Amino acid sequence: MDFIGANILSVGQFERADIDRVFQVADTMGPYARREKVTRVLEGAILGNMFLEPSTRTRLSFGAAFNLLGGTVRETVGITASAMAKGESLYDTARVLSGYSDVICMRHPQAGSVAEFAAASRVPVVNGGDGANEHPTQALLDLYTIRKELAGKGRTLDDFRIAMIGDLKHGRTVHSLCKLLCLFEKVHLTFVSPPELAMPAELVEQLRAVGHTVDVTDQLESSISHVDIVYSTRIQEERFASQEEANLYRGRFRLNREIFTRHAQPNTVIMHPLPRDSRAEANELDTDLNEHPSLAIFRQTDNGLLVRMALFAMLLGVEDKVDDYARPVTWQSRRTPI
Ligand code: NCD
Repeated sequence: MDFIGANILSVGQFERADIDRVFQVADTMGPYARREKVTRVLEGAILGNMFLEPSTRTRLSFGAAFNLLGGTVRETVGITASAMAKGESLYDTARVLSGYSDVICMRHPQAGSVAEFAAASRVPVVNGGDGANEHPTQALLDLYTIRKELAGKGRTLDDFRIAMIGDLKHGRTVHSLCKLLCLFEKVHLTFVSPPELAMPAELVEQLRAVGHTVDVTDQLESSISHVDIVYSTRIQEERFASQEEANLYRGRFRLNREIFTRHAQPNTVIMHPLPRDSRAEANELDTDLNEHPSLAIFRQTDNGLLVRMALFAMLLGVEDKVDDYARPVTWQSRRTPI
């Protein structure tokens, strides 16, 4: 695909070669993300960051990625803080915001809304999550993480096993990740959820149609025993009709050090798109795993920066010029090494 000026709305628009290119560019972003070098390649460009649902890492990493390439970020956060609270349409908002921006990232509670917004925008729009539908950049960073973690063990994205756990019905990150996995060979997926929160049937069919093996279960322990990746997710309580209904499922599947040690292989990689719900009644991924070397959740968030930098560079056509606008860092960074 031609990335320059493209909208990134769904992972369905990617072919395998496109993913490879994004990952290749992401691999070159490390020195900038680690503040070993500074680049001004996007100097003068403006990112319009419009987040109409709660977000910490997606919004901040889009913004930080754009800043690290030398661009400027303008933000609107929350529907009540935007003119949408006065009844302004997606169309008008897109026409206006695209006059102020060179690229827009948008998160919105309704499925399909970001695509509607993009249709009216005059600049590329990146979907930062539209309801329970998709979260394409999260899927890219998840896949980039899986690729890196497997590579450390001499393995590739073709032929690995992954268990996805939790709210697979409403989780947009797992929806996008499953679609992306259809581009690879011989993936074995185990979906662990209460039957009411199962992975949508059309996604299961799509995975099986490309030759992947899919098991569906509501048993956590047995499903993590022979997998390379465990991908835990939060119950998406904001998508339920009531908090009471969401409460029926919170805390149903809890991965902690004891269960992991007893049932999983020690080198099974633990992932989660975050935020994890660390309240006692949920706690789907226990903090007692924080120091476990298999816990990749913060490697995931760091990788998010690289992947989002790569996407911005490609959408604005500067991926080959990043180093031309580089200079040494002038300040003293005192980051604790990971
Ligand atoms: C996810 C999301 O918003 O879909 N978070 C994220 O972007 N990393 C997952 C979630 O909210 O549970």
